[in-house]
Amino acid sequence: MGSGVTLYLGAPGAGKSFLMREHVAKLAALPDAPVFFIVNHGEKPGEPSWADLPGADFFSTTAEWWGRPSAVAVFPGDNPLAVARLTLDVGTAVLVDDEIDLALGSCRWRARPDHPEDGDSPLRTIVKRGRHARNKAGYVTEVGALIATHRPANLPTDLSGLFSRVYVGRLVSFNDADRVYREGWISAPNAAAAKAQLEAFEPGAFSVWPI
Ligand SMILES: Nc1ncnc2c1ncn2[C@@H]1O[C@H](COP(=O)(O)OP(=O)(O)OP(=O)(O)O)[C@@H](O)[C@H]1O
Ligand SMILES: [Mg+2]
Repeated sequence: MGSGVTLYLGAPGAGKSFLMREHVAKLAALPDAPVFFIVNHGEKPGEPSWADLPGADFFSTTAEWWGRPSAVAVFPGDNPLAVARLTLDVGTAVLVDDEIDLALGSCRWRARPDHPEDGDSPLRTIVKRGRHARNKAGYVTEVGALIATHRPANLPTDLSGLFSRVYVGRLVSFNDADRVYREGWISAPNAAAAKAQLEAFEPGAFSVWPI
């Protein structure tokens, strides 16, 4: 938790969103907290929700935020890249997306060499260059992220080594356990042992890297 990019990994029901909400609540209550921009992928009735966060304000579009800025802003999940873009534009901010598969799959990840004006995905920019990103006003600020996926095997390899902290919860597929093992996010003698270890995690149980 803190600055940089924190990654949460775990099968559906592992407890990723629950843990992320706890972390956002704690971080947002600190003095000089950054602004939190939260992508809301929908919640089940009766389950904890982003609405439980103290001070959370809900917006329909990212454009609306500029008219009534809020330090804890929740957006609909249909355009996660617009929320990532807003995080960079505002600066001194943290993107919170508990289902990044949509953002990873919804656009060109890297700028094409013959069309550099298109730029990288804003999510890639945050992870790769968020520590000193220029905001819309022209100031260099730090932008971080709390991001989750149930499919670590699908994470772009160019992000390896860029996470400041990784929470690994229950995972059941060999490919996912293998990726977690090869990245060094869990301590195990081999991928099969990592799979056995990760499969046995109860909901809410996470191992933390670095230890
Ligand atoms: N530490 C915890 N204490 C109590 N309940 C928990 C804890 N962690 C998770 N839960 C409960 O387990 C269920 C699944 O948690 P959560 O929605 O956070 O999982 P998830 O990993 O985000 O799943 P998905 O990938 O489907 O979004 C929820 O009902 C949640 O309230
Ligand atoms: Mg979730």
